[in-house]
Amino acid sequence: MTSPKTFHVKSYGCQMNVYDGERMAELLGEQGMTATDSADADLVVLNTCHIREKATEKVYSEIGRLRKEGRKPMIAVAGCVAQAEGEEIARRAKVDVVVGPQAYHHLPELVVQAAGGALALDTDMPAASKFAALPKRRKVAPSAFLTIQEGCDKFCTYCVVPYTRGAEVSRPFDAILDEAKALVDAGAREITLLGQNVNAWDDDKGSGLHGLIVALDRIPGLARIRYTTSHPNDMREGLIRAHAEVEKLMPFLHLPVQAGSNRVLKAMNRSHTRDSYLRILDRVRAARPDIALSGDFIVGFPGESDAEFEETLSLVEAVGYAQCFSFKYSPRPGTPAAERTDAFVPAEVADERLQRLQAAINRDQAAFNAATVGKYCTILIERPGKRLGQMAGKSPWLQSVHLETNAAVGALIEVEIVQAGPNSLGGVARAPLAA
Ligand code: 5AD
Ligand code: SF4
Repeated sequence: MTSPKTFHVKSYGCQMNVYDGERMAELLGEQGMTATDSADADLVVLNTCHIREKATEKVYSEIGRLRKEGRKPMIAVAGCVAQAEGEEIARRAKVDVVVGPQAYHHLPELVVQAAGGALALDTDMPAASKFAALPKRRKVAPSAFLTIQEGCDKFCTYCVVPYTRGAEVSRPFDAILDEAKALVDAGAREITLLGQNVNAWDDDKGSGLHGLIVALDRIPGLARIRYTTSHPNDMREGLIRAHAEVEKLMPFLHLPVQAGSNRVLKAMNRSHTRDSYLRILDRVRAARPDIALSGDFIVGFPGESDAEFEETLSLVEAVGYAQCFSFKYSPRPGTPAAERTDAFVPAEVADERLQRLQAAINRDQAAFNAATVGKYCTILIERPGKRLGQMAGKSPWLQSVHLETNAAVGALIEVEIVQAGPNSLGGVARAPLAA
């Protein structure tokens, strides 16, 4: 196989994969390779997700599709499926490169090795971090991701993350600050700090995520700070206070709860209760009354009864989320919950529960959106809108807003929200803000 000159990175799953995908593209670009469409690329990197069975299946069907094409691109499988099933993929699907999420800084060497005809596989989780080996950020979108923490020590019984992403590791404060400044120099106005347990981030000073947010707040040119995903048990007082005190910190909190019943939460090993979760949200709302709340839910966890599912619905009702993600439980190999063969929730029951939950979530999301009509807020323009002359961006509460304006991508403009739909808002530009 000749060495590839063009590449395409396709990321599935979470925002951290989007970030990793960008970093892999930068790395390949630095080797002199050019980014192109999947249909023309000499090298296709599939940056995979292993969180639910469907996500894993997608990878195998994509490999099958690429293999069937007349031209045979080099295929690299990266991400969490590579980590979890690396050797199996190599055997089953005959790919050229398999690289885990902690080893992708080795991608250029692995590509050279594969071009020589050998399978190149690296799923090590080295003690030294990959970040130092990655190129500097050069050109990014106005809203950029920055991974500050990886891995998880919580071991929720349904979840593969502790096995695919490893133990909780925080990147050093200075490295994060340097990357944040480089992102701003490269065009970012908003930075979303990423971590599987982002609010578990800490360093030897012990000031936790709120200390980092306060430091980022001082970067000139950076207008907005967000963070995701948080765990209820790591929601420290300082971070809650930051929502009242740090102006650049956006009024949005994604805090997964997963279920509303204490028995189910215990079986999931969530280590918080329904009430302790609701008390955290009360404190967050006291600090920042207009905060938009978001959550994740799993329905049909083994043993979940009808009455226990009703407790999830009543929790949704009690919170009034601005948006949520909800999933049907998917047994994942190697996790404790997947060992249980008793108390299986039939697929039709889980389907019906998911539909009812999503109806409740959609109702609350529409109500949250409707309540923003008439408000004035700042929009960060991110892309052209649906119609000619329109642009689209995000409100402080992470809603998509479409409006007519000649403001450029990256501009922050003052907008009045005049219309709300279930998934987006319409606005009227009032005045550009000073840069
Ligand atoms: N089945 C269904 N959903 C899952 N999640 C994690 N593991 C599973 C699983 N085995 C969901 C959780 C988590 C989100 C990222 O994915 O809700 O918060
Ligand atoms: Fe998975 Fe639980 Fe860790 Fe989240 S906290 S990544 S759901 S084990």
